[in-house]
Amino acid sequence: MKLGIVAERRRDETRVALSPESAGKFRALGLEVLVEAGAGKRALFADADYEAAGAKVAPDAQHILAEADVVLKVRAPLEEELRAMKQGAVLVGMLEPHSAESPAPRDYAQTGVTACALEFVPRITRAQSMDVLSSQANLAGYKAVLEAGACYPRMFPMMMTAAGAIAPARVFVMGTGVAGLQAIATARRLGAIVSATDVRAATKEQVESLGASFLMVEADGGEGEGGYAKETSAAYKQAQAKLVGEHIAKQNIVITAALVPGRAAPKLVSRAMLESMAAGSVVVDLAVEQGGNCEGSKAGEAVVEEGVTILGWRNMAGRLPADASALYARNLFAFAGLLFGKEGNGGASLAPDWEDEILQATLLARDGAVVHPAFRGEAQGEA
Ligand code: NAI
Repeated sequence: MKLGIVAERRRDETRVALSPESAGKFRALGLEVLVEAGAGKRALFADADYEAAGAKVAPDAQHILAEADVVLKVRAPLEEELRAMKQGAVLVGMLEPHSAESPAPRDYAQTGVTACALEFVPRITRAQSMDVLSSQANLAGYKAVLEAGACYPRMFPMMMTAAGAIAPARVFVMGTGVAGLQAIATARRLGAIVSATDVRAATKEQVESLGASFLMVEADGGEGEGGYAKETSAAYKQAQAKLVGEHIAKQNIVITAALVPGRAAPKLVSRAMLESMAAGSVVVDLAVEQGGNCEGSKAGEAVVEEGVTILGWRNMAGRLPADASALYARNLFAFAGLLFGKEGNGGASLAPDWEDEILQATLLARDGAVVHPAFRGEAQGEA
């Protein structure tokens, strides 16, 4: 059986779906591993490292896609990549089926490709090793703080020097999921005074254990299904804006990382709040690709509004391509175990248990049909 990995071709994508370490593990399961030449270059994985791990490096992506029984990707394939894949092949990656830039589940069904969207892996204990949202968000939270620090014209830590004292930076993190918690930990390590907010009261303890203070509007219950946030009421939004508005005026750096599954990111930082901040302050909007938490943030750009720099970098984890790819590749190897069965099935054929809760949650299309419940109606409606 053949496993295929090609270079990522989407804008701003620096990562690769396979590391030499994972290539070696797939080889040990008995799979043939085909890697496009240069696929790991930006993640600092050389072709020679893949070869040393037993992979075959080939120059032609189209050929690899046409040969592979399983294709591992970071992002959704381009149209020509999908067309090049063979019927019955399994595609695994962060396929972003809701995005207009990605193929829709019906496109996979039409080409006969079985598509697994890794971002739908459920947040259960057994799936932790496959959780790409966590592995990538953790890096994004860390990098967001470094990016903020790089364009903040002052220091993070308090410092007593012979020339006088320097006040510590005040960092405010909005949305304390995986990315937000890592942002708190990183800002604290750099010596900032850190505070945070979330709609889920359950995060208070985590925030405080990292040495940050927590503020939130009580009541309303911000927790929805599966530990995720749910959309808040208008009254809650108003109360939150008042609380945050007073607090934000005293902050130097704001990291926003608030998301609600399946919805546009909540707008949490208004223009009036930006105006209240001191010149030179920095906002990093980690939700910019989901519509943004901050008014005026632009995907892929650094903009200055009311003297405040707003960083809207896409793919923050991709700014650490070596570690992001290494962790992502481990997530993929763990997930692939569901496709090959426990013993790797000798690498001879696929042996998935399609009823497996994790596999089922990720499956968009299989055997020429859209199977994900969130998209089935859509596909039928258009038929
Ligand atoms: P996410 O990326 O979906 O959202 C980020 C944060 O934004 C969340 O904490 C959310 O409550 C917050 N938020 C949403 N709307 C907001 C608003 N209006 N104002 C302020 N904050 C707002 O979250 P992530 O990082 O994907 O984590 C989601 C859940 O999954 C969490 O409960 C987390 O603890 C849990 N989790 C569980 C894992 C496991 O058991 N295997 C692994 C990783 C995460």
